[in-house]
Amino acid sequence: MLETVWRPHPGQRAFLESPAKIRVLACGRRWGKTDACAAEAVCNLLGPEPTRQLIVAPTLDQARLLFERVLELVEALPGPAPPKVRWTPYPRLDLAGRTLAARSGHVTRSLRGNGATHVVVDEAAFVPEKLITEVVLPMLATTNGRLTLISTPKGRNHFWRFFRLGESGEAGVWSRRAPTSESPFVPEAFLQTQRRLISDRAYRVEYEAEFLDSEGRVFPAEAVDRCLVPDLPRLPEPPFLAGLDWGRYGDPTALAVLCGSRDEAMLLDVRRIEAPSWSAQVGLVRRALEAYPGVRLLCDSTGVGDPMLEALRRSAPGLRADGFVFTAASKAQLIDNLALMLDRGALKMRPDPELLRELEHFEAREAASGHRRLGATAGYHDDLVCALALAAWRLPQPYRPTILLGQPRRFSAHAKL
Ligand SMILES: Nc1ncnc2c1ncn2[C@@H]1O[C@H](COP(=O)(O)OP(=O)(O)O)[C@@H](O)[C@H]1O
Ligand SMILES: [Mg+2]
Repeated sequence: MLETVWRPHPGQRAFLESPAKIRVLACGRRWGKTDACAAEAVCNLLGPEPTRQLIVAPTLDQARLLFERVLELVEALPGPAPPKVRWTPYPRLDLAGRTLAARSGHVTRSLRGNGATHVVVDEAAFVPEKLITEVVLPMLATTNGRLTLISTPKGRNHFWRFFRLGESGEAGVWSRRAPTSESPFVPEAFLQTQRRLISDRAYRVEYEAEFLDSEGRVFPAEAVDRCLVPDLPRLPEPPFLAGLDWGRYGDPTALAVLCGSRDEAMLLDVRRIEAPSWSAQVGLVRRALEAYPGVRLLCDSTGVGDPMLEALRRSAPGLRADGFVFTAASKAQLIDNLALMLDRGALKMRPDPELLRELEHFEAREAASGHRRLGATAGYHDDLVCALALAAWRLPQPYRPTILLGQPRRFSAHAKL
């Protein structure tokens, strides 16, 4: 009956026909991953079994996309009575005793203990591994339920490991990888434009679904994954440190708020602030910071950033705000500090797909002058990364006495390595 409103393309059909208990689908953007899972969820809602389905994604907005697509398809069908739908505190629908709920990966405590017959993790490469292994898999254990992981790749992380289980046919896992071009619904011209707009590497990850390793990356995927947590380990407490990257040339302004120290920090908020005018942006920034008493802000004061900082100080007289001028050298210090913190797992954060993509596509290139040029791959933003790096730079550095043992060693220039 679903075929009257939705038909799979051949790649989607291969996925939908697999009977495996665990399926891993690694495909390029717009291939139709979300759509295929929505269609399958509809079949389960209308099927003979009493199903309890759950959609999980890094953010509730992302999970809601799939949920809304399910609703759209159900409502387009001529047959069933309309489902009972509730939107708060999270979307949930009930159709003749079969349920479907959409949750973000941030709510592990309330997810634990609930059984489900099917769980779909959308953007699975972007959720913390523990969410899958410690929360989702136990939810399926009692029901002998099915797990579907769909995502674009993000380096060689847990999603890649699940994918590889399928390649070797281990543990009953099925997996498939396909480029966006497999979908007949994506015009070739769109792909050609993307190919021109973004770097070769970003294109290979985002549209050809390649699991590229992190070699040469400023923020290696393994380091970023060390920092991802489904829940923050502690309650937020001062000192609060914020970083702000003013948007220019039509880019949005980005804000990040941390607490803790350079040894142990937590990301409390990271977001873009979009407003039609500079003054409206200043107002929104001020309001966003009101939630963090005593917050210290470091903002980009390069060029137009300087008058913006002045405007912000006038608008929020009590705010402790300082400027940071970006030069090739100062930006390198800022970024190196963030890279080091991520490498040590010193910054715990819940997954924000936008930030994670920016980190993945952030590059160091050799400029003609011999300097490293740091920034987003062409076609990508790096405003969230810059805001985060500014906030991280502001973090207090725990006191560490330097212990010198004897004379500093000197190395002969001719010493053999
Ligand atoms: N079988 C299909 N029939 C019609 N439209 C489809 C089909 N599969 C995908 N689409 C459309 O293609 C676009 C991208 O699909 P989506 O599921 O969001 O991709 P992904 O999750 O892989 O990025 C959406 O507009 C979706 O409705
Ligand atoms: Mg999708």
